[in-house]
Amino acid sequence: MGHARHFVRLFGLVAIVVIAFLGARAQVVPKDFGTQGPFRASAIPEAAKREPRHLGSEACSDCHAKINDAWAKGKHHTPQCENCHGPGLLHVKVMSEDSVDAYPDQIKKNPKALRVTSGIQECEWCHLKTFERPSTLKSIKNVERHIIETGGKYTAASKCTDCHNPHTTVVK
Ligand code: HEC
Ligand code: HEC
Ligand code: HEC
Ligand code: HEC
Repeated sequence: MGHARHFVRLFGLVAIVVIAFLGARAQVVPKDFGTQGPFRASAIPEAAKREPRHLGSEACSDCHAKINDAWAKGKHHTPQCENCHGPGLLHVKVMSEDSVDAYPDQIKKNPKALRVTSGIQECEWCHLKTFERPSTLKSIKNVERHIIETGGKYTAASKCTDCHNPHTTVVK
C-alpha cells in the first residue's frame, strides 16, 4: 500500500495546476467576454467609434475632378477609387494640410499616404477568371495570352495599364 502516497502527490499536483489555471484565467479574461458570444461585448461599441478608413469615391471628386468625371461616365464606375487605391482617410487628411511635418516617418516617406498601385495586381483581383467570379464580369483567362492576342508584346514588366486607362478601361 506504500505506493498510494505517489498517487496522492500526483493528484495534489494536478489539483494545484488546475486551480492555478482557473485563478489566472479569471484574472485575465475580461468580465464582458462571452456575454453575447465568444467575444468581448464592449468590442462592438469600440469598433463602431473608430473613424471609417474608406470614404467612398465622392470624397475624391473635389480634388480629382477630371479623373472622377472620366471614371463616372466610363465603363469602370462600378469599382470605387479605393478598391484600387486603398483606404483614403489618411491621404485626404495629409493632402488637406500644408506640410507632413506633424506626421510619423512612415508618412514622411510616403507623403501621398496611399497604397501604391501596380497597374496589374489590382486588375487581376477582379478580372482573372476563377470559378467563383460571376460570368457577367468580363474576364481574361491568362495574362500572357490576353496581351499577345490583343497585339502586345508580353514581358515580365507588362502591365494592364500599358494599354487600358484604369479609370475608363478604354484602350489607349
Ligand atoms: C484635399 C484634396 C484631395 C482629396 C480630397 C483627395 N486627393 Fe488625391 N491627391 C491630392 C493631391 C494634391 C495629390 C498630389 C498631386 C497629384 O499627384 O495629382 C493627390 C494625388 C493622388 C494620387 C496619386 C498618388 C501618387 O502616388 O502619385 C492618387 C492615386 C489619389 N490622389 C487618389 C485619391 C483618392 C482615391 C481620393 C479619395 C479617397 C483622393 N485622392 C482624395 C489631393 C486630394
Ligand atoms: C480599377 C482600378 C482603379 C480605380 C477604380 C481608380 N483608379 Fe486611379 N489609378 C489606377 C492605376 C492603376 C493608376 C496608375 C496609372 C498608371 O500608372 O498609368 C491610377 C492613377 C491615379 C492617379 C494619379 C495618376 C493620374 O492619372 O493623374 C490619380 C490622381 C487617381 N488614380 C485617382 C483616382 C480617383 C479619384 C478614382 C475614383 C474616381 C480612381 N483613381 C479610381 C487605378 C484605379
Ligand atoms: C473591384 C473590381 C475591379 C477592379 C479592381 C478592376 N475592375 Fe475592371 N471592371 C470591373 C467591373 C465590375 C466591370 C464591368 C463594369 C460594368 O459593366 O458596370 C469592369 C470592366 C472592365 C473592362 C471591360 C469594359 C467593357 O468593355 O465592358 C475592362 C477592359 C477592365 N474592366 C479593365 C480593368 C483594368 C485594366 C483594371 C486594373 C487597372 C481593372 N479593370 C480593375 C471591376 C473591376
Ligand atoms: C497590349 C495591350 C493590352 C494589355 C497589356 C492588356 N489589354 Fe485588355 N484588352 C486589350 C484590347 C485591345 C482589348 C479589346 C478592346 C476592347 O474591346 O475594348 C482588351 C479587352 C479586355 C477586356 C474585355 C474582355 C472582353 O471579354 O471583352 C478585359 C476584361 C481586359 N482587357 C482586361 C485586361 C487586364 C486585366 C489586363 C492586365 C492583366 C489587360 N487587359 C492588359 C488590350 C490590352
